[in-house]
Amino acid sequence: MSVLKIEGGRPLNGRIRVQGAKNSVLPILAATILQRGESVIRNCPDLTDVHAAIDILRHLGCAAKFENGTVRVDSRSITRSDIPDELMRRMRSSVIFLGPILARCGEATLSMPGGCELGPRPIDLHLEAMRRLGARVDENGGDLICAAPGLTGARIDLPIPSVGATVNSMLAAAGAKGVTFITNAAREPEIRDLGEYLTELGIRVSGAGTSTVTVEGGTARPYTEHTVIPDRIAAATYISAVTAAGGDIVLAGVDTGDMAGVTRALSKMGTELEPNGGELRCRMKKRPVPPGTVTTGPYPGFPTDAQPVLMAACAVAEGATAFVETVFQNRYRHVPELLRMGADIRVDGRVAIVQGVKRLHGAKVEATDLRGGAALAVAALAAEGVTEISCLGHIDRGYEKIADCLTSLGGRAERIDRKDK
Ligand code: UD1
Repeated sequence: MSVLKIEGGRPLNGRIRVQGAKNSVLPILAATILQRGESVIRNCPDLTDVHAAIDILRHLGCAAKFENGTVRVDSRSITRSDIPDELMRRMRSSVIFLGPILARCGEATLSMPGGCELGPRPIDLHLEAMRRLGARVDENGGDLICAAPGLTGARIDLPIPSVGATVNSMLAAAGAKGVTFITNAAREPEIRDLGEYLTELGIRVSGAGTSTVTVEGGTARPYTEHTVIPDRIAAATYISAVTAAGGDIVLAGVDTGDMAGVTRALSKMGTELEPNGGELRCRMKKRPVPPGTVTTGPYPGFPTDAQPVLMAACAVAEGATAFVETVFQNRYRHVPELLRMGADIRVDGRVAIVQGVKRLHGAKVEATDLRGGAALAVAALAAEGVTEISCLGHIDRGYEKIADCLTSLGGRAERIDRKDK
Protein backbone atom coordinates (compact mmCIF):
# COMPACT_ATOMS: atom_id res chain seq x y z
CA MET A 1 0.00 0.00 0.00
CA SER A 2 1.31 3.46 -0.87
CA VAL A 3 0.91 6.39 1.49
CA LEU A 4 1.59 10.10 1.22
CA LYS A 5 3.17 11.37 4.41
CA ILE A 6 2.90 15.13 4.95
CA GLU A 7 4.31 17.12 7.83
CA GLY A 8 2.25 20.30 7.86
CA GLY A 9 1.90 23.58 9.66
CA ARG A 10 4.50 25.54 7.66
CA PRO A 11 4.00 28.08 4.87
CA LEU A 12 4.69 27.10 1.26
CA ASN A 13 7.36 28.77 -0.89
CA GLY A 14 8.49 27.75 -4.34
CA ARG A 15 7.61 27.34 -7.98
CA ILE A 16 6.20 24.48 -10.05
CA ARG A 17 4.97 23.94 -13.58
CA VAL A 18 1.35 22.80 -13.58
CA GLN A 19 0.68 19.56 -15.47
CA GLY A 20 -1.39 19.26 -18.66
CA ALA A 21 -5.13 18.74 -18.22
CA LYS A 22 -6.25 15.17 -17.54
CA ASN A 23 -9.76 15.96 -18.75
CA SER A 24 -8.35 17.24 -22.06
CA VAL A 25 -5.88 14.50 -22.82
CA LEU A 26 -8.38 11.64 -22.31
CA PRO A 27 -10.90 12.83 -24.97
CA ILE A 28 -8.03 13.73 -27.32
CA LEU A 29 -6.52 10.24 -26.99
CA ALA A 30 -9.99 8.80 -27.74
CA ALA A 31 -10.20 11.13 -30.78
CA THR A 32 -6.96 9.76 -32.27
CA ILE A 33 -8.97 6.66 -33.25
CA LEU A 34 -10.73 8.73 -35.91
CA GLN A 35 -7.48 9.62 -37.61
CA ARG A 36 -6.07 6.62 -39.49
CA GLY A 37 -2.68 8.28 -39.05
CA GLU A 38 -0.18 9.58 -36.52
CA SER A 39 -0.80 12.07 -33.71
CA VAL A 40 1.81 13.59 -31.43
CA ILE A 41 0.16 14.88 -28.23
CA ARG A 42 2.36 17.06 -26.01
CA ASN A 43 2.01 18.23 -22.38
CA CYS A 44 0.43 14.91 -21.36
CA PRO A 45 0.48 14.30 -17.61
CA ASP A 46 1.91 10.99 -16.40
CA LEU A 47 -1.24 9.62 -14.75
CA THR A 48 -2.74 6.18 -14.32
CA ASP A 49 -5.86 7.35 -16.22
CA VAL A 50 -3.67 8.39 -19.17
CA HIS A 51 -1.97 4.97 -19.12
CA ALA A 52 -5.40 3.31 -19.00
CA ALA A 53 -6.39 5.27 -22.14
CA ILE A 54 -3.13 4.23 -23.84
CA ASP A 55 -3.85 0.58 -22.94
CA ILE A 56 -7.30 0.89 -24.54
CA LEU A 57 -5.73 2.26 -27.73
CA ARG A 58 -3.23 -0.62 -27.80
CA HIS A 59 -5.99 -3.16 -27.16
CA LEU A 60 -7.83 -1.76 -30.20
CA GLY A 61 -4.72 -2.29 -32.34
CA CYS A 62 -3.15 1.20 -32.34
CA ALA A 63 0.51 1.76 -31.58
CA ALA A 64 0.76 4.16 -28.62
CA LYS A 65 3.79 5.28 -26.63
CA PHE A 66 4.21 7.68 -23.70
CA GLU A 67 7.64 9.35 -23.42
CA ASN A 68 8.63 12.50 -21.53
CA GLY A 69 5.16 14.01 -21.47
CA THR A 70 4.44 13.22 -25.13
CA VAL A 71 2.08 10.51 -26.36
CA ARG A 72 2.49 9.28 -29.94
CA VAL A 73 -0.42 7.35 -31.36
CA ASP A 74 -0.48 5.58 -34.71
CA SER A 75 -4.08 4.63 -35.45
CA ARG A 76 -3.62 3.41 -39.04
CA SER A 77 -4.53 -0.11 -38.04
CA ILE A 78 -7.48 -0.84 -35.78
CA THR A 79 -8.09 -4.54 -35.33
CA ARG A 80 -10.94 -4.66 -32.83
CA SER A 81 -13.94 -2.69 -31.66
CA ASP A 82 -14.45 -3.83 -28.06
CA ILE A 83 -13.24 -2.59 -24.67
CA PRO A 84 -13.04 -5.40 -22.10
CA ASP A 85 -14.51 -5.10 -18.64
CA GLU A 86 -11.09 -4.85 -16.97
CA LEU A 87 -10.17 -1.70 -18.97
CA MET A 88 -13.63 -0.16 -18.50
CA ARG A 89 -13.30 -0.62 -14.74
CA ARG A 90 -9.82 0.89 -14.61
CA MET A 91 -11.19 4.20 -15.81
CA ARG A 92 -14.87 5.20 -15.64
CA SER A 93 -14.48 7.73 -18.44
CA SER A 94 -13.53 4.90 -20.86
CA VAL A 95 -17.07 5.37 -22.20
CA ILE A 96 -15.81 8.36 -24.25
CA PHE A 97 -14.18 5.79 -26.57
CA LEU A 98 -17.67 4.66 -27.65
CA GLY A 99 -18.28 7.46 -30.19
CA PRO A 100 -14.93 7.24 -31.98
CA ILE A 101 -14.89 3.40 -32.09
CA LEU A 102 -18.41 3.41 -33.54
CA ALA A 103 -17.47 6.06 -36.11
CA ARG A 104 -14.32 4.22 -37.15
CA CYS A 105 -15.47 0.58 -37.00
CA GLY A 106 -19.26 0.78 -37.50
CA GLU A 107 -19.68 -1.24 -34.29
CA ALA A 108 -18.58 -1.14 -30.66
CA THR A 109 -18.90 -3.46 -27.66
CA LEU A 110 -18.22 -2.07 -24.19
CA SER A 111 -19.11 -3.32 -20.76
CA MET A 112 -21.53 -1.00 -18.96
CA PRO A 113 -19.72 1.32 -16.57
CA GLY A 114 -21.24 0.94 -13.10
CA GLY A 115 -21.51 3.58 -10.40
CA CYS A 116 -18.38 5.16 -8.99
CA GLU A 117 -17.10 6.87 -5.86
CA LEU A 118 -19.16 9.97 -6.71
CA GLY A 119 -22.49 8.08 -6.91
CA PRO A 120 -24.42 6.70 -9.88
CA ARG A 121 -22.73 7.44 -13.20
CA PRO A 122 -25.46 7.05 -15.86
CA ILE A 123 -24.59 7.09 -19.57
CA ASP A 124 -28.12 7.48 -20.94
CA LEU A 125 -27.24 10.79 -22.64
CA HIS A 126 -24.24 9.23 -24.39
CA LEU A 127 -26.41 6.38 -25.71
CA GLU A 128 -29.24 8.68 -26.78
CA ALA A 129 -26.72 10.79 -28.75
CA MET A 130 -25.42 7.67 -30.55
CA ARG A 131 -29.00 6.71 -31.40
CA ARG A 132 -29.67 10.21 -32.78
CA LEU A 133 -26.72 9.70 -35.13
CA GLY A 134 -28.25 6.45 -36.38
CA ALA A 135 -26.66 3.80 -34.16
CA ARG A 136 -28.48 0.77 -32.79
CA VAL A 137 -27.70 0.34 -29.12
CA ASP A 138 -28.49 -2.91 -27.29
CA GLU A 139 -27.89 -3.50 -23.62
CA ASN A 140 -27.25 -7.17 -23.01
CA GLY A 141 -26.54 -8.11 -19.41
CA GLY A 142 -23.51 -6.05 -18.49
CA ASP A 143 -22.59 -5.39 -22.13
CA LEU A 144 -23.38 -2.58 -24.44
CA ILE A 145 -23.52 -3.63 -28.08
CA CYS A 146 -23.68 -0.83 -30.63
CA ALA A 147 -23.90 -1.02 -34.39
CA ALA A 148 -23.94 1.71 -37.00
CA PRO A 149 -22.83 0.76 -40.49
CA GLY A 150 -23.01 4.47 -41.33
CA LEU A 151 -23.53 7.33 -38.86
CA THR A 152 -25.40 10.37 -40.16
CA GLY A 153 -25.21 13.93 -38.83
CA ALA A 154 -28.20 14.99 -36.70
CA ARG A 155 -29.37 17.46 -34.10
CA ILE A 156 -28.50 16.40 -30.55
CA ASP A 157 -30.27 18.38 -27.81
CA LEU A 158 -28.63 17.52 -24.52
CA PRO A 159 -31.02 17.91 -21.55
CA ILE A 160 -28.04 18.72 -19.30
CA PRO A 161 -24.60 19.92 -20.42
CA SER A 162 -22.79 16.64 -19.73
CA VAL A 163 -19.07 16.83 -20.47
CA GLY A 164 -18.75 13.16 -21.44
CA ALA A 165 -21.92 13.14 -23.60
CA THR A 166 -20.68 16.29 -25.42
CA VAL A 167 -17.33 14.57 -26.08
CA ASN A 168 -18.95 11.36 -27.37
CA SER A 169 -21.36 13.35 -29.56
CA MET A 170 -18.52 15.41 -31.08
CA LEU A 171 -16.35 12.35 -31.71
CA ALA A 172 -19.10 10.24 -33.29
CA ALA A 173 -20.22 13.28 -35.34
CA ALA A 174 -16.66 13.81 -36.63
CA GLY A 175 -16.88 10.40 -38.32
CA ALA A 176 -20.52 10.75 -39.45
CA LYS A 177 -21.80 11.78 -42.86
CA GLY A 178 -23.09 15.38 -42.82
CA VAL A 179 -23.46 18.03 -40.16
CA THR A 180 -24.31 17.56 -36.46
CA PHE A 181 -25.61 20.32 -34.18
CA ILE A 182 -25.16 19.76 -30.46
CA THR A 183 -27.23 22.10 -28.29
CA ASN A 184 -26.83 22.69 -24.54
CA ALA A 185 -23.29 21.34 -24.97
CA ALA A 186 -20.84 21.42 -22.06
CA ARG A 187 -18.70 24.59 -22.26
CA GLU A 188 -15.65 23.36 -20.32
CA PRO A 189 -12.25 24.55 -21.63
CA GLU A 190 -11.36 20.88 -22.24
CA ILE A 191 -14.19 20.70 -24.83
CA ARG A 192 -12.67 23.74 -26.57
CA ASP A 193 -9.30 21.92 -26.56
CA LEU A 194 -10.90 18.83 -28.11
CA GLY A 195 -12.45 21.09 -30.78
CA GLU A 196 -9.00 22.51 -31.52
CA TYR A 197 -7.50 19.04 -31.88
CA LEU A 198 -10.32 17.99 -34.27
CA THR A 199 -9.77 21.20 -36.28
CA GLU A 200 -6.06 20.37 -36.50
CA LEU A 201 -7.13 16.98 -37.87
CA GLY A 202 -9.00 18.85 -40.62
CA ILE A 203 -12.52 18.22 -39.26
CA ARG A 204 -14.76 21.30 -39.41
CA VAL A 205 -15.84 22.15 -35.89
CA SER A 206 -17.32 25.41 -34.66
CA GLY A 207 -18.55 26.55 -31.27
CA ALA A 208 -16.56 24.05 -29.15
CA GLY A 209 -16.50 25.64 -25.68
CA THR A 210 -19.91 27.30 -26.24
CA SER A 211 -23.43 25.90 -25.81
CA THR A 212 -23.87 25.08 -29.50
CA VAL A 213 -21.28 22.95 -31.24
CA THR A 214 -21.40 22.19 -34.96
CA VAL A 215 -19.37 19.31 -36.37
CA GLU A 216 -19.12 18.43 -40.05
CA GLY A 217 -18.03 14.82 -40.46
CA GLY A 218 -14.97 14.37 -42.63
CA THR A 219 -11.70 12.61 -43.31
CA ALA A 220 -8.86 13.36 -40.94
CA ARG A 221 -5.32 14.41 -41.91
CA PRO A 222 -2.74 11.64 -41.59
CA TYR A 223 -0.40 13.55 -39.24
CA THR A 224 -0.99 16.11 -36.52
CA GLU A 225 0.64 17.58 -33.42
CA HIS A 226 -1.22 19.09 -30.49
CA THR A 227 -0.33 20.55 -27.08
CA VAL A 228 -2.80 19.90 -24.27
CA ILE A 229 -4.03 22.90 -22.20
CA PRO A 230 -2.98 23.31 -18.54
CA ASP A 231 -4.89 21.48 -15.81
CA ARG A 232 -7.11 24.07 -14.11
CA ILE A 233 -8.10 21.66 -11.32
CA ALA A 234 -4.48 20.82 -10.45
CA ALA A 235 -3.81 24.60 -10.39
CA ALA A 236 -6.85 25.10 -8.11
CA THR A 237 -5.45 22.42 -5.80
CA TYR A 238 -2.08 24.17 -5.37
CA ILE A 239 -3.72 27.60 -4.88
CA SER A 240 -6.01 26.06 -2.25
CA ALA A 241 -2.91 24.62 -0.56
CA VAL A 242 -1.21 28.03 -0.23
CA THR A 243 -4.52 29.55 0.87
CA ALA A 244 -4.75 27.02 3.69
CA ALA A 245 -1.07 26.85 4.71
CA GLY A 246 0.02 30.42 3.84
CA GLY A 247 3.13 31.35 1.84
CA ASP A 248 4.23 32.66 -1.54
CA ILE A 249 4.28 30.34 -4.56
CA VAL A 250 4.45 30.64 -8.34
CA LEU A 251 2.55 28.32 -10.67
CA ALA A 252 3.93 28.22 -14.20
CA GLY A 253 1.95 27.07 -17.23
CA VAL A 254 -1.51 28.12 -16.05
CA ASP A 255 -4.35 29.75 -17.96
CA THR A 256 -6.19 31.97 -15.47
CA GLY A 257 -8.77 32.80 -18.15
CA ASP A 258 -10.09 29.24 -17.78
CA MET A 259 -10.40 29.34 -13.99
CA ALA A 260 -12.28 32.52 -13.14
CA GLY A 261 -14.83 30.72 -10.90
CA VAL A 262 -12.02 29.26 -8.80
CA THR A 263 -9.77 32.34 -8.63
CA ARG A 264 -12.77 34.51 -7.66
CA ALA A 265 -13.48 32.29 -4.63
CA LEU A 266 -9.82 32.06 -3.61
CA SER A 267 -9.32 35.85 -3.94
CA LYS A 268 -12.35 36.37 -1.68
CA MET A 269 -10.57 34.20 0.90
CA GLY A 270 -7.71 36.68 0.95
CA THR A 271 -5.23 34.99 -1.38
CA GLU A 272 -3.36 37.52 -3.51
CA LEU A 273 -3.29 36.27 -7.09
CA GLU A 274 -1.02 38.01 -9.62
CA PRO A 275 -1.11 36.60 -13.14
CA ASN A 276 1.95 37.39 -15.24
CA GLY A 277 1.96 35.86 -18.72
CA GLY A 278 1.47 32.13 -18.24
CA GLU A 279 2.50 32.34 -14.58
CA LEU A 280 0.45 32.95 -11.47
CA ARG A 281 1.94 34.19 -8.21
CA CYS A 282 -0.18 33.22 -5.20
CA ARG A 283 0.46 34.82 -1.80
CA MET A 284 -1.32 34.31 1.48
CA LYS A 285 -0.15 36.14 4.59
CA LYS A 286 -3.05 35.63 7.02
CA ARG A 287 -5.73 33.18 8.06
CA PRO A 288 -8.26 32.78 5.20
CA VAL A 289 -11.74 34.27 5.42
CA PRO A 290 -14.78 32.37 4.04
CA PRO A 291 -15.52 32.95 0.33
CA GLY A 292 -19.34 33.05 0.74
CA THR A 293 -21.64 30.25 -0.45
CA VAL A 294 -19.96 28.00 -3.02
CA THR A 295 -22.39 26.35 -5.43
CA THR A 296 -20.90 23.92 -7.94
CA GLY A 297 -22.20 23.84 -11.50
CA PRO A 298 -21.25 23.22 -15.10
CA TYR A 299 -18.62 25.59 -16.57
CA PRO A 300 -18.39 28.57 -16.21
CA GLY A 301 -19.80 27.83 -12.73
CA PHE A 302 -17.64 26.70 -9.83
CA PRO A 303 -16.21 23.28 -10.84
CA THR A 304 -17.36 20.31 -8.80
CA ASP A 305 -13.80 18.94 -9.13
CA ALA A 306 -12.45 21.93 -7.16
CA GLN A 307 -15.08 21.68 -4.39
CA PRO A 308 -13.13 19.26 -2.13
CA VAL A 309 -9.82 21.19 -2.29
CA LEU A 310 -11.52 24.52 -1.64
CA MET A 311 -13.40 22.93 1.25
CA ALA A 312 -10.08 21.89 2.81
CA ALA A 313 -8.94 25.55 2.72
CA CYS A 314 -12.30 26.69 4.17
CA ALA A 315 -11.83 24.20 7.02
CA VAL A 316 -9.23 26.60 8.52
CA ALA A 317 -11.01 29.86 7.57
CA GLU A 318 -12.16 32.45 10.07
CA GLY A 319 -15.91 31.73 9.87
CA ALA A 320 -18.43 29.48 8.13
CA THR A 321 -18.77 28.52 4.45
CA ALA A 322 -21.76 26.79 2.86
CA PHE A 323 -21.17 24.42 -0.06
CA VAL A 324 -23.98 23.32 -2.38
CA GLU A 325 -23.01 20.40 -4.64
CA THR A 326 -25.32 20.31 -7.65
CA VAL A 327 -23.40 18.07 -10.08
CA PHE A 328 -22.75 14.73 -8.34
CA GLN A 329 -24.85 13.02 -5.67
CA ASN A 330 -22.08 11.66 -3.50
CA ARG A 331 -19.29 14.20 -3.51
CA TYR A 332 -18.66 14.73 0.20
CA ARG A 333 -16.85 11.46 0.93
CA HIS A 334 -13.73 13.40 2.00
CA VAL A 335 -15.71 15.02 4.85
CA PRO A 336 -15.39 12.16 7.41
CA GLU A 337 -11.63 12.12 6.70
CA LEU A 338 -11.36 15.89 7.23
CA LEU A 339 -13.26 15.43 10.51
CA ARG A 340 -10.50 13.05 11.66
CA MET A 341 -8.11 15.96 11.20
CA GLY A 342 -10.18 18.19 13.47
CA ALA A 343 -12.39 19.93 10.88
CA ASP A 344 -15.92 21.03 11.81
CA ILE A 345 -18.21 20.14 8.88
CA ARG A 346 -21.88 19.11 8.78
CA VAL A 347 -23.41 17.54 5.69
CA ASP A 348 -27.12 17.50 4.91
CA GLY A 349 -27.83 16.05 1.47
CA ARG A 350 -26.25 18.32 -1.13
CA VAL A 351 -25.28 21.01 1.40
CA ALA A 352 -22.17 21.06 3.59
CA ILE A 353 -21.57 23.69 6.25
CA VAL A 354 -17.91 24.17 7.06
CA GLN A 355 -17.18 26.01 10.29
CA GLY A 356 -13.54 27.02 10.09
CA VAL A 357 -11.29 25.94 12.94
CA LYS A 358 -8.07 27.63 14.02
CA ARG A 359 -5.96 24.57 13.52
CA LEU A 360 -6.26 21.09 12.00
CA HIS A 361 -4.10 18.25 13.28
CA GLY A 362 -2.34 15.42 11.45
CA ALA A 363 -4.08 12.02 11.30
CA LYS A 364 -4.16 8.74 9.40
CA VAL A 365 -6.70 9.28 6.63
CA GLU A 366 -7.83 7.58 3.45
CA ALA A 367 -8.25 9.05 -0.03
CA THR A 368 -11.82 8.12 -0.96
CA ASP A 369 -11.72 9.47 -4.52
CA LEU A 370 -9.40 11.54 -6.71
CA ARG A 371 -10.26 15.11 -5.66
CA GLY A 372 -11.22 14.07 -2.14
CA GLY A 373 -7.69 12.67 -1.80
CA ALA A 374 -6.21 15.96 -3.01
CA ALA A 375 -8.32 17.79 -0.40
CA LEU A 376 -6.67 15.71 2.32
CA ALA A 377 -3.23 16.76 1.02
CA VAL A 378 -4.30 20.43 1.16
CA ALA A 379 -5.59 19.99 4.73
CA ALA A 380 -2.42 18.11 5.73
CA LEU A 381 -0.19 21.00 4.59
CA ALA A 382 -2.09 23.35 6.90
CA ALA A 383 -2.36 20.89 9.80
CA GLU A 384 -0.06 20.65 12.81
CA GLY A 385 1.86 17.37 12.85
CA VAL A 386 2.05 14.43 10.48
CA THR A 387 -0.73 13.16 8.21
CA GLU A 388 -0.59 9.85 6.35
CA ILE A 389 -2.92 9.57 3.37
CA SER A 390 -3.55 6.01 2.18
CA CYS A 391 -5.25 4.68 -0.98
CA LEU A 392 -3.02 6.87 -3.14
CA GLY A 393 -4.24 5.06 -6.26
CA HIS A 394 -7.11 7.56 -6.37
CA ILE A 395 -4.73 10.55 -6.32
CA ASP A 396 -2.44 8.95 -8.94
CA ARG A 397 -5.36 9.01 -11.40
CA GLY A 398 -5.17 12.78 -11.63
CA TYR A 399 -2.01 14.27 -10.06
CA GLU A 400 1.42 13.81 -11.58
CA LYS A 401 4.14 13.32 -8.94
CA ILE A 402 2.15 15.05 -6.20
CA ALA A 403 4.79 14.48 -3.48
CA ASP A 404 7.52 16.03 -5.68
CA CYS A 405 5.29 19.01 -6.53
CA LEU A 406 4.50 19.65 -2.86
CA THR A 407 8.20 19.35 -1.97
CA SER A 408 9.11 21.87 -4.72
CA LEU A 409 6.60 24.21 -3.07
CA GLY A 410 8.43 23.89 0.24
CA GLY A 411 6.07 21.31 1.77
CA ARG A 412 7.40 18.31 3.68
CA ALA A 413 5.85 15.52 1.65
CA GLU A 414 7.05 12.00 1.03
CA ARG A 415 5.57 9.08 -0.84
CA ILE A 416 6.11 5.74 0.82
CA ASP A 417 5.48 2.70 -1.35
CA ARG A 418 4.93 -0.29 0.91
CA LYS A 419 4.56 -3.76 -0.50
CA ASP A 420 1.05 -5.17 0.05
CA LYS A 421 1.06 -8.08 2.45
C1 UD1 B 1 -16.44 15.08 -16.42
C2 UD1 B 1 -15.04 15.10 -15.83
C3 UD1 B 1 -15.11 15.07 -14.31
C4 UD1 B 1 -16.01 16.18 -13.79
C5 UD1 B 1 -17.36 16.16 -14.49
C6 UD1 B 1 -18.23 17.37 -14.14
C7 UD1 B 1 -13.68 14.02 -17.49
C8 UD1 B 1 -12.84 12.83 -17.86
N1 UD1 B 1 -14.31 13.95 -16.31
O1 UD1 B 1 -17.04 13.85 -16.02
O2 UD1 B 1 -13.79 15.23 -13.80
O3 UD1 B 1 -16.22 15.98 -12.41
O4 UD1 B 1 -17.18 16.20 -15.92
O5 UD1 B 1 -17.57 18.55 -14.43
O6 UD1 B 1 -13.76 14.99 -18.21
N2 UD1 B 1 -25.19 12.45 -16.41
C9 UD1 B 1 -26.35 11.78 -16.69
N3 UD1 B 1 -26.40 11.00 -17.81
C10 UD1 B 1 -25.33 10.88 -18.66
C11 UD1 B 1 -24.15 11.58 -18.37
C12 UD1 B 1 -24.12 12.36 -17.23
O7 UD1 B 1 -27.33 11.85 -15.95
O8 UD1 B 1 -25.45 10.15 -19.66
C13 UD1 B 1 -25.11 13.29 -15.17
C14 UD1 B 1 -24.04 12.78 -14.20
O9 UD1 B 1 -24.55 11.77 -13.37
C15 UD1 B 1 -23.71 14.04 -13.42
C16 UD1 B 1 -23.87 15.15 -14.48
O10 UD1 B 1 -24.63 14.58 -15.54
O11 UD1 B 1 -24.65 14.24 -12.40
C17 UD1 B 1 -22.57 15.68 -15.05
O12 UD1 B 1 -21.80 14.61 -15.53
P1 UD1 B 1 -20.80 14.78 -16.75
O13 UD1 B 1 -20.65 16.22 -17.12
O14 UD1 B 1 -21.22 13.84 -17.83
O15 UD1 B 1 -19.45 14.28 -16.11
P2 UD1 B 1 -18.36 13.34 -16.75
O16 UD1 B 1 -18.24 13.60 -18.22
O17 UD1 B 1 -18.60 11.95 -16.31
